[in-house]
Amino acid sequence: MKLDVAFLPSLFRESGQYVCVVVDVLRASSSLVVLLERGVEEVLPASSIGEARRLARRPAGPHYLLCGERGGLPPPGFHYGNSPVEFAGLELGGRRAILCTSNGTRALARAAAAPLVLVGALLNATAVGRAAAEAAAERELGVAVVCSGDEGGTAFSLEDALGAGAIVDAILGLGREAPPRQAPAARVGVRARLELSDGALAALTISRAHQGQEQAALRAGSHARDLEVLGLGEDLSFCARRDAFATVPHLQRDEDDRPVLRRYSSASRG
Ligand code: MLT
Repeated sequence: MKLDVAFLPSLFRESGQYVCVVVDVLRASSSLVVLLERGVEEVLPASSIGEARRLARRPAGPHYLLCGERGGLPPPGFHYGNSPVEFAGLELGGRRAILCTSNGTRALARAAAAPLVLVGALLNATAVGRAAAEAAAERELGVAVVCSGDEGGTAFSLEDALGAGAIVDAILGLGREAPPRQAPAARVGVRARLELSDGALAALTISRAHQGQEQAALRAGSHARDLEVLGLGEDLSFCARRDAFATVPHLQRDEDDRPVLRRYSSASRG
């Protein structure tokens, strides 16, 4: 099984060949994990503030919480920003949300053509690694982890590389877990059967170099410093918590053929 990491969305090619995991550790993918974990039924990713407002104004249909950021802060009229810490403190059972962020929701749009698109973060690294590897093995595809990056997806992001490396490591770990007598086809992620690209090896190296010190590593990055200045430093320690949750967001199409994120379950592998 091919295992690739694209450090920028534009480096993700051959999308039909991969189960894709989109990562934006600070903070869109962490927010998506927490929104679904807190009970939100579905999140519509919007690629612009205008689109988010239009979706929220639709006269028919359910009420949506309007969430997102520009420059790290909620745009005027939005109910919430893009803070996983804030979402974690809310009771959101049965609610629906719209999320528009600078890089993360754009990267999702870029990955949408892949046969299966999941969302990963440090918060759910093992759960998303397992879900992606199992689905890829079943479909005879590879796994590509796509980093959202910074500056509209044009700049490398340290925290996304860390998250991607943690997901690669989780997939390698599945091979170590496999019982020795299990049939080869069912041994998802067995090391010898995985073909790591240079991107996957680089992400793995970065992640292992900072294992157990994810928070310090996140705080060293430029986006973390910007968030700190905005008084959003609590999000950094929150998003650094590896495997705090098992929720995996899954990009699907809704009944109006719009992209929508819902909780992944092995029964909804569409
Ligand atoms: C993004 O999509 O660029 C981020 O989630 C920005 C942020 O930290 O809010």
